[in-house]
Amino acid sequence: MMNEFLRDIILRAGQMTLEFRRKVGGLAVDRKSKKDLVTEADRAVEDYLVGQIQRKYPSHGIFGEETGKHGGDEFCWVIDPIDGTTSYIHGQPFYSVSIGVQQNGRAIAAAVYAPVLDELFEAQAGKGATLNGEPIGVSKESCLEDSLLATGFACMRDNQVYNNLPFFQRILPQIRDIRRTGSAAVDLSYIACGRLEGFWELNLKPYDIAAGELIVTEAGGRVTDFAGGVVGLPGEIIATNGHIHDAMIAILSQTKAQILGEKGKE
Ligand code: IPD
Ligand code: CA
Ligand code: CA
Repeated sequence: MMNEFLRDIILRAGQMTLEFRRKVGGLAVDRKSKKDLVTEADRAVEDYLVGQIQRKYPSHGIFGEETGKHGGDEFCWVIDPIDGTTSYIHGQPFYSVSIGVQQNGRAIAAAVYAPVLDELFEAQAGKGATLNGEPIGVSKESCLEDSLLATGFACMRDNQVYNNLPFFQRILPQIRDIRRTGSAAVDLSYIACGRLEGFWELNLKPYDIAAGELIVTEAGGRVTDFAGGVVGLPGEIIATNGHIHDAMIAILSQTKAQILGEKGKE
């Protein structure tokens, strides 16, 4: 029942993003920082989702990117109303609504919906992952140089000194190519259905990956931090088809050690 409810609200939320984007006169856009944008659609979609969840499950907690934490019991709904707001504002198709449901901090259900592409990725703990209702699985590629990876640069948005550029420079020559969709939730969902072999990023927040992490693992993939441990957010994440994970850990952890070693000498 919870999964049907989750599907209903995420599909409606996706439609809302399309309606807002067609708005005559354009979207109202604010800046959380110089490059971190938020629109009236982000806020309206989150308000809609919070309202629906509070009505259906009044005792549940909610953690939304735009409205923060709303009390709750063992259950918590982790919401990114529009993951990929920059893509959304620029009229690109690669953005998504992302909702992860946790029980005592453990992911039990997830949905990522890309409205322009009309692709709904779902997962339930222990029951696999689907794309528009059809089962999905990660790719079987085990060779890094034949792998297509994705990443993001939120760290650059915040002008962070410790950022993704050295990692990007180290990895790019060792892989087939890179894709930058602008939505971490879409990137993670693409690993789950075999369109990407891997993803890494620094400085992601819980709502960026709450849904995508479960979709990857339920599709047979692996998600860790750069050292191969449990992801701690905001922090670093590696998500892969499992077959190239150790190679990614080796490159990223070695690069991190060099960067921090060099910083230690400053
Ligand atoms: C962003 C997207 C982007 C990632 C950033 C996220 P937002 O989410 O997921 O792909 O690189 O780190 O912040 O801000 O559009 O919800
Ligand atoms: Ca996000
Ligand atoms: Ca967002």
